[in-house]
Amino acid sequence: MKVLFFLLLLKGFFLYPLYAHEKEKHKIEKKSEEIKEKVESFSMPSFKEAIFEHLHNKLIHFPIALCFLSFLFLIISFKYPEFEKSARITLLISAFFTIPVYFSGENQIKNFEKDVNKWLAETHEQLGIFTIISIWLWLFVSNIKGMKKIALFIGILTVILISITAFYGGILAH
Ligand code: HEM
Repeated sequence: MKVLFFLLLLKGFFLYPLYAHEKEKHKIEKKSEEIKEKVESFSMPSFKEAIFEHLHNKLIHFPIALCFLSFLFLIISFKYPEFEKSARITLLISAFFTIPVYFSGENQIKNFEKDVNKWLAETHEQLGIFTIISIWLWLFVSNIKGMKKIALFIGILTVILISITAFYGGILAH
């Protein structure tokens, strides 16, 4: 009985790596089958589809980048006041981009209505609305003389808000 038990133990000891290897091999084979299927079923979307599909994800890069650029110009303008105009212009363009960004976002959020991460989409939406309001407020204050320090304060808030919103958006999209 003891000998039988010992033999069984030995068998398990020597054969386990073999079983584990087989399992891993099977996993890799399944994965490559999936990739092969994906490659074979892929077809190029039409030009219109490629441009307008997930419009929010495409447009959002502009206000984010312009907002950061405007903030950079604003900081520089404390030493070189000639940068003030660049800060205002980049912020104005960023603010205009928030209009299509808002509507495209509202259009895409419908896809998450029955999703498990609906709460994430709603959190992102609320943060997005606050961010958009903050950008427009920053623009408004930037155009009032003698309020540069308040503009800087709202600018800092906006840059923080936009970063958090974009972070949530990234998680939502991927
Ligand atoms: C300034 C405000 C906003 C910022 C900075 C922002 C940022 C982002 C970013 C970075 C993504 C991921 C894009 C990607 O990785 O391709 C995203 C996705 C998304 N955003 Fe926004 N967003 C804003 C406002 C909004 C608003 C107001 C809504 C309205 C509901 C919204 C709805 C969505 C949705 C539904 C997605 C997922 C899109 C998908 O993958 O299907 N966003 N957002």
